Amino acid sequence: MELAPWAPNPNAPTTETMSPLLLATWSINHPALTAAWPALSTGGTAVDAVESAIRFAESDPRNATVGVGGSPDRDGTVSLDAAIMLSPSRTGAVGSVRRALHPITVARCVMERTPHYLLAGEAADQFAIEQGLETGELLTESSRRRWQEWRASNSITRPIANIEEQNHDTIGVLAIDSNGTLAAGCSTSGLAWKLPGRVGDSPIIGQGLYADPSVGACVCTGHGELAAGICASFLAVETLRHGNSPTDAVRQVLSRIKENYQLTDQDQIGLIVLSHIGHFSTGSLRPGYTTAVRTADRDEAIEPELVLL
Ligand code: GLY
Repeated sequence: MELAPWAPNPNAPTTETMSPLLLATWSINHPALTAAWPALSTGGTAVDAVESAIRFAESDPRNATVGVGGSPDRDGTVSLDAAIMLSPSRTGAVGSVRRALHPITVARCVMERTPHYLLAGEAADQFAIEQGLETGELLTESSRRRWQEWRASNSITRPIANIEEQNHDTIGVLAIDSNGTLAAGCSTSGLAWKLPGRVGDSPIIGQGLYADPSVGACVCTGHGELAAGICASFLAVETLRHGNSPTDAVRQVLSRIKENYQLTDQDQIGLIVLSHIGHFSTGSLRPGYTTAVRTADRDEAIEPELVLL
């Protein structure tokens, strides 16, 4: 199968009017945007910016839910999910990799070098090795210690952890470059103490992320099972497609989750919705979620525009 050609967004404003923009789930990921901003702000591409911001988070062993040092599963193994998306025909993802140090780059290689969109498990790690990408030990002393503490203090049948700033779950990044091109990406070790083999929303197109160059893009963070059942990111972009605002799209996603799930006090979803002309909104089911923003004029972390509960 030949990869469909991907063209710049025909509806994007001209280069004279489009300002680059970078957004990430959780203020703790602000340094990742700082790392990616210099290239994006001087003509770099949105896809490079998304990859580079996420690689920064994946490399940081202090980031306890992404990449090296991510949260282990029930049995003490770290497994990672990631995806990148430019358009419906330009997507790549990996699920449940246990050795790749930069799953976002493996996902990009799946998108750019294979006719597929998703590789999973041991074969995805093998693909990373074949592509010459870095592999290594994902479990750090700190993540092992956290897992041992959880084992000592919790029922083994309870894999869900609180989603909050210090245990923030997925990095999702949205970018627009000076050509008006959109890109979305996400990377995560998934829910702490998950069952081995569990794959969340992050590597699934339409759930953890979605991007359509003529409409907009979305990324989600939080309990992936909630984003999965309603195809949260696809729903957000489809809501934009029907002429609604990013705030309307955030409200639609959160309301749809509330309608369909018996939510507990710990359940959380946060999301960012970005239109193709650079308007965005953020929201979450509960307080505590934050978004990092980087533009020519803004360099800050913001509270959600909408908190449903
Ligand atoms: N949102 C990430 C996960 O549930 O795995």
